[in-house]
Amino acid sequence: MINVKNLKKSFEKNRVLKGVSISVDEGKVLSIIGSSGTGKSTFIKCIIGLLKPDSGEIIVDDKDITQISDDYELMELRKNFGYLFQEGALFDSMSVGENVAFGLKYLTKVPKSEYKKIVAEKLALVGLVGIENMRPSELSGGMKKRVSLARVLAPSPKYILYDEPTSGLDPIRADSIGYLILDLKKKLNVTSIVITHDMSLAYKVSDKIAMLCGGNLVLHGTPKEFKTTKNAMVRQFVDGKREGPIKLVPTGIKTEGDDNI
Ligand SMILES: Nc1ncnc2c1ncn2[C@@H]1O[C@H](COP(=O)(O)OP(=O)(O)OP(=O)(O)O)[C@@H](O)[C@H]1O
Ligand SMILES: [Mg+2]
Repeated sequence: MINVKNLKKSFEKNRVLKGVSISVDEGKVLSIIGSSGTGKSTFIKCIIGLLKPDSGEIIVDDKDITQISDDYELMELRKNFGYLFQEGALFDSMSVGENVAFGLKYLTKVPKSEYKKIVAEKLALVGLVGIENMRPSELSGGMKKRVSLARVLAPSPKYILYDEPTSGLDPIRADSIGYLILDLKKKLNVTSIVITHDMSLAYKVSDKIAMLCGGNLVLHGTPKEFKTTKNAMVRQFVDGKREGPIKLVPTGIKTEGDDNI
């Protein structure tokens, strides 16, 4: 279980997360939605330890990871996590096969003789075959995204944090990634946090959805609650309307009555 309590994170004067509390139970899928620049990636980077929160607790398997100072203990805990970077973040100097096997080498004790089989299996899961010797620069954008996902899946993590898993994919591939997320949940009891702008994905895979706006959660509920809520901010976002309480300003997002945003 991941339990985040009162998480705050600023970048100098930019107060991005103002006290976010949310939890995701084991074997469940939580999606996080919200406009660009509202702190979704910042939130999961805090969970994975790429960013240090200013305050708050991040409890994973009964341990507050913000309080762990022992590097070895932190590293062991992080081995349970897979993180799909928003940008994919493949290593350009490595082949596809080496990229996918990367986590096997550093995060698991899987013997090297098994890498080839596992790499092919994980690539097949994301609909790719026979591209192990290609370089990332030879792939299309959507293929890169799927190779990144195969790399995340290879060490069989207990928790997976997906940052925009379907961005850059065609609708059919996006749908199959949704089924993959559900399959991992059903067959392997994987716990997931999915950041997405893709509402059809959020509705399909989520046990709960949370919407971030102005550094706080505006709604945390089931897909059904999101479909039926009358909350004006949620409706504007989910229905994709330019007009509404969320104002797009050049520096980010501003909501009426909140000058701190
Ligand atoms: N390392 C950093 N240093 C300074 N500011 C940062 C850093 N990372 C993020 N920010 C700022 O924090 C805010 C939130 O960024 P974040 O990447 O979390 O947004 P997001 O919700 O993931 O947006 P998108 O949907 O566009 O990916 C932005 O104003 C961004 O400029
Ligand atoms: Mg982001």
